[in-house]
Amino acid sequence: MVVQASLEGEAYFPSDDVMEQAFVRDWEALARFADEDLEGFWAREASELEWYQPWERVLDDSQAPFFKWFVGAKVNIVQNALDRHMTTWRKNKLALIWVGEKGDVRTYSYFELYREVCQFANLLRAMGVQKGDRVTIYMPRIPEIVTAMLACARIGAIHSVVYGGFSVDALQGRVDDSHSRVVITADGGWMNGKLVELKKTVDDAIKRCPSVETVIVIQHTGQEVWIEPGRDYWYHELKQLRITNGACTPQEMDSEDPLYILYTSGTTGTPKAILHTHGGYMVGVYSTLKYVFELNDMDRWWCTADPGWVTGHSYLVYGPLLLGATTFMYEGAPTYPYPDRWWSLVEKYGISVFYTAPTAIRGLMRFGESWPKRRDLSSLRLLGSVGEPINPEAWRWYHSVIGGQRCPIMDTWWQTETGCFMITPTPVVPLKPGSASRPFFGQRAEILDEHGNPVPDGEEGYMVLTRPWPAMMRTIYQDDERFIQQYWSKYPGKYMTGDSAKRDTDGYFWVIGRVDDVIKVSGYRLGTAEIESALVSHPAVAEAAAIGLPHDIKGQAIHVYCILRADYTPSQELMEELRQHVGMHLGPIAKPEKITFMDALPKTRSGKIMRRLLKARAQGLADGDISTLEE
Ligand code: WT7
Repeated sequence: MVVQASLEGEAYFPSDDVMEQAFVRDWEALARFADEDLEGFWAREASELEWYQPWERVLDDSQAPFFKWFVGAKVNIVQNALDRHMTTWRKNKLALIWVGEKGDVRTYSYFELYREVCQFANLLRAMGVQKGDRVTIYMPRIPEIVTAMLACARIGAIHSVVYGGFSVDALQGRVDDSHSRVVITADGGWMNGKLVELKKTVDDAIKRCPSVETVIVIQHTGQEVWIEPGRDYWYHELKQLRITNGACTPQEMDSEDPLYILYTSGTTGTPKAILHTHGGYMVGVYSTLKYVFELNDMDRWWCTADPGWVTGHSYLVYGPLLLGATTFMYEGAPTYPYPDRWWSLVEKYGISVFYTAPTAIRGLMRFGESWPKRRDLSSLRLLGSVGEPINPEAWRWYHSVIGGQRCPIMDTWWQTETGCFMITPTPVVPLKPGSASRPFFGQRAEILDEHGNPVPDGEEGYMVLTRPWPAMMRTIYQDDERFIQQYWSKYPGKYMTGDSAKRDTDGYFWVIGRVDDVIKVSGYRLGTAEIESALVSHPAVAEAAAIGLPHDIKGQAIHVYCILRADYTPSQELMEELRQHVGMHLGPIAKPEKITFMDALPKTRSGKIMRRLLKARAQGLADGDISTLEE
């Protein structure tokens, strides 16, 4: 790629090679078509997939913000992700290549994956799981997490995947809120050479979850775990039962029927369950992955995300399978046993398109160029970034050291709520390091001030999306009111992203970060409220405030301010104990970087903790407006 100056600032233009191979060369033309005929564009995308029954209307906006897409259609996303390929040569193509942290390898052709999913789905059906039932999946990054998700979707059950790095409280809250009848887990997983005891966490968590009738346990590490008679079943034993063999007819779903819920942290209170559907979500994910990464039958696609996050849902599980691509999945840590583990996998498996998070890039940059330089990374043709703004320094390193200057970087901005990419380049779009470029086809974004007026280009404001898209969240599960209040009430008719951003004079968007109480630690989304409630559950803590402060590798790190109860005194030991306590309750990612003991927390006169003020002071910045601060 060449650097040119016809765009403002540092810009990288696609090379002739990239242009030649591109599947959509005229970005502007397609963008114009989609902008002028939103429904026409999405109808065309949808018609590339299979429907049991066609839609009567593409978009129903009569009850906005409760938008409906492909109204009246019947579909099943798994039928499109698997069965659709059974009548083509892709039946024998590799769907999934999996490598464990220990070095074990498993591969599945589309046919093999299809069979596994049918078996799993038959099993769930035999256990009485029905359309609409919620199933919690709490697993390591192993192939069965994929088959479990697809098995649920195949029979119309709503999966709720909880990230395997979360621990007891986080899991318990999510199982309970979703009233899951079934939990699917594994004996354990491997991460950084250590055993992660997932089953134990499940045992602890569901003690307080009366809805759970059955726990299905995948054997992965071989460690001994407790099997509760009448409640817990080994998957490999259930599989021996003949009942699970044979085909499994997918459940015909209404386009708007729920596919899954996924909990994510919001501004206040407990994490909320974002709800996605079979029809619209399928079309959005399929189309965005197709246009942005242009996966073809020569490609091997590696999205490093965990299926426990939306990136894993959309672009590790559903997206690549909908496209009939070969997807790669690795169980463990990028630096285990050496800092070139990822690069060795790219080399060995000939990965051609690689999609990861800025925090991972920064973390690996730290070990220097020699690790990736020892590996042959010439199979790569395209790179991707997601989860937080990528700092230009990391971008350039990724571009030159990993991508050998030849791979465009697709910086994709989106959210759990959006389901698919919203602001993103495609391979032919000139790139500016640190900018996710422009809205995807059919989408529009605006930067607004407090009162809803657009701010001039170059100025910071609230980023909103102004047109509906098929993969948009339909609601917060069981909480329509919160859905409206959180996303649609600040600027009626516009979707509030929760991010602040700038737009430059070339129309490129520069996301700055969250404007609410969401902290992004290594790209993981955590709410201050969750961390604070984990802290006050410790007998020593009377009150706590959590904030995110800039961190070189993690992007943001959690800093906590605590007021102790009367009979406790601050000490190094107590600090460590509290860090462990949060880790144990929420998961290691939530462990605070630093804990400061205070006598009082700054509050507004109405009693709200002023986290903004704590944040400003911690960074040595001006206090800002403190007119509401209590005396
Ligand atoms: C938040 C959503 C959806 C993928 C994983 C994160 C931040 C995400 C980018 C990007 C700048 C980004 C935003 C957004 N974010 N991608 N390319 N550039 N910021 O999903 O956990 O729901 O978090 O992640 O702040 O609001 P999520």
